Order: sequence, then structure tokens, then C-alpha cells
Amino acid sequence: MTNSTSAVKTVFDVEEIRAQFPILKVLVHGKPLVYLDNAATSQKPRRVIKAGSAYYATINANVHRGVHTLSTLATDAQEAARETVRGHINARHAHEVIFTSGTTASINLAASSLGQLLLKPGDEVLITGMEHHANIVPWQLACERYGATLKVIPITESGEWEISRSDDRMIRQFTEHTKVLAISHVSNTLGTINPIKELIAEAKKHGVITVVDGAQAIPHMHVDVQDLGCDLYAFSGHKMYAPTGIGVLYGREELLEQMPPWQGGGEMIDQVTFAKTTYAKLPFKFEAGTPHIAGIIGLGEAVRWLQDYDIDAMAAHEHTLLEHATKELRTVEGLRIIGTAKEKVGVISFVIEGVHHYDLGTLLDQQGIAVRTGHHCTQPLMERFGVSGTTRASFAPFNTIDEVDAMVAAAKKAVKMLR
Ligand SMILES: Cc1ncc(COP(=O)(O)O)c(C=O)c1O
Repeated sequence: MTNSTSAVKTVFDVEEIRAQFPILKVLVHGKPLVYLDNAATSQKPRRVIKAGSAYYATINANVHRGVHTLSTLATDAQEAARETVRGHINARHAHEVIFTSGTTASINLAASSLGQLLLKPGDEVLITGMEHHANIVPWQLACERYGATLKVIPITESGEWEISRSDDRMIRQFTEHTKVLAISHVSNTLGTINPIKELIAEAKKHGVITVVDGAQAIPHMHVDVQDLGCDLYAFSGHKMYAPTGIGVLYGREELLEQMPPWQGGGEMIDQVTFAKTTYAKLPFKFEAGTPHIAGIIGLGEAVRWLQDYDIDAMAAHEHTLLEHATKELRTVEGLRIIGTAKEKVGVISFVIEGVHHYDLGTLLDQQGIAVRTGHHCTQPLMERFGVSGTTRASFAPFNTIDEVDAMVAAAKKAVKMLR
């Protein structure tokens, strides 16, 4: 049932949502697909798939490069998508939205450019113990290059930051040497929703530049970059129902103006001579080369698709699935949940005594159930919890309680076989 009087569908109807995802009709090993790997990549609604192919079928041309009709149409479609993304994250200007190939590229851009702008020997970059490798390694590279040090905020047993404002531990993270704070909004492995607004506010008091890895937050919640107060915010299209190979780095205009370009080439220049090059205005200064035009158009469509729904209702549905999964998985003998924070998105990681996660993942796959196994690109976090990897289920609005039950039943069966 949907609300026909309003543009936003305020009544959550899982079957109506499922009908929009063609892949859910696919059989895996002869069984209906149960897709519980949405944190790795989300599935795509028909509208998004169509938008990408319509670009190729009807207006395929390079952008910003020609006076011909198709080029103008492609440019208009790309820039309309930029405006859609701007509105979605409440950026002040469309030119604060830089298109990249994904979160990884966005953070590499940030680390490389901020490194050049800010870092010198003795400086510090502050991250947390739950970061994805994409929010560790680029900062390590920058620190190595400029002689800075990477500092890590530890993680509690429940999978939360080991700092709080009440006992000043939050304030004490910042020293006169701290130049950048780079933190995930939501942990891809634990599902923890971090209180980033508080830490950003503290960082700002110390003149520290703030970079947020929003890859796992943006599919599940309202993200308002002005309200968060962050300087940079990175995310990927493919985790929010858009195509792969497209992502965003939001940046506060004043900071982006100061940051040097990351990659050089066509599109990002104003004037080139062999003696010197001057750069294009924002956002093009950071968009060298031909962009993933179909991906950008697909991202715009995915945002519009999301905006047709009440994202809080979607999140509430995912939370119901999380609570059910947490309760039912606890009935599996020897199972330990990794990540029990109070505030979580629909992501649940677990290990089972005597059962290797790869074996479990393979047996679940035989039942048509897709989960992720391994370290989830968070090896330091695995070390923190003393495990080599976990099995992770991650939910989308199209998942159902029956699917969670199917996973739990298959896990119980697998445990009997593997022990
Ligand atoms: C928290 C987080 N950060 C960064 C990334 C990297 O995203 P991408 O591979 O789309 O660049 C991921 C992907 O899993 C992630 O979950």
C-alpha cells in the first residue's frame, strides 16, 4: 500500500519495493535469491538500470566538450544529477559535489590533496579503530609522504569509540599537531552509527579538518552535510542503489578552493602552457578526464528513487530485520555477535565457534543466501576482536523477516554439518 496523495510513499510496503528489483527474480543454485550483502553493494531498482541504458541509447556523447545537441543533453543530464545529489545532502552549492569513482577515490583525493596542503613532519592524522581500509591506507600514504603520524581512536568491546565528551576523552584526542580527523559515519563491519557530529564540533574547535567516510550511512539515513558541519564527506553510488564506478566527494567550498588538484588532465584545466597550467573552477578542478556519465545519471535516478520513499520508514524496516536477526542468531550454539553498539544500521557480523566463515558462507550460498565473509576490509578491527573474519548479513528495504529466518535456519543446518 502506498500513499497516493503524497509524492513520498510514507507507508512502507516491502512487496512494492521488491517488485522494483529485477534481480530478486534470479534463482541461485535453483533457489530464490536471498540477498543479504547490501553493505558490499546494493541491488539496483529497474528505474536506475533504465536511466543508465537510456543515456547510452538516446543521448550518448561526451560532456562539456561540444556544441552539438547530444553533448548538450548529456551535459544537462549530468549537471541535473549533480543538483539532485546537492539537494539530497543539503550542500550549499552544486559545485561542492565532486564526482569520483567511489568512496575509495574520494578519500584518496582528500588524503592526497590535504596532505599536500596541510601535512608536515610531526603533524597528526586522527582516525578510528573501525575504519575501512579505504579510510586508513590513503592517510598512511599521506603520512609517510609528509612525515606525519597516524593516530587511532580505540574501539570498545561493543564496537563503539572509546571516547566520550563527559570525561573529556573526546577533547584529549586533539593536540596542537592534529591536522585532520578522518572517521566513518557508520561501520561497514559492525553497523555502528557513530556520533560524528559531536566529534566534528570538537575537531573544529581545534582547527582540525574533518573528513567523513559516509559509504555505509548514506543508504540508510538523512545526511545533511551542513548540519554535520564536516569539511569533506565521501560516499559511493553503488551502495545506495546506483551503478558501480560512481561516487561523490562533497567538500566545503572554501576548503575545496584551497586544495590542490589530485589528478591532472583534460576537463580540470583553465589554461595549459608548457610553462604552467591554471585550473578550472569547482567542481571541474577535481574531475580530470571523461567522467562516468551513465553512472552519474544513474546516481541521480537512485537519489530520486530514494527520495520517493520515507527513508526513516526504510531504516525502521531494516532495524526490525536487525533486531529479529540478532534475537534469532543468538539461538545458534556457539555464535558470537561482533558489534553490539546501541545505535546500529541493519548490519550484523558474527562468528561461530568451530565453524570457519568461508565454509559457512559457501553453505549459505548453496541455499541461495548471499552473505559476506572475511575481514570486510577492516583487518585492524578484526585484530581488535581477535578474529580472522566474520560472516556479515546486511539488510536493504527489500529484505524480509522470512529471509532472515532462512539465513538463521541455514546457519543452524551448516553448524550441524561443519562441527
Ligand atoms: C565504510 C566503507 N568505506 C569505504 C568503502 C569503499 O567503497 P568503494 O569500494 O565503493 O570505493 C566501503 C566499501 O565497502 C565501506 O564500507
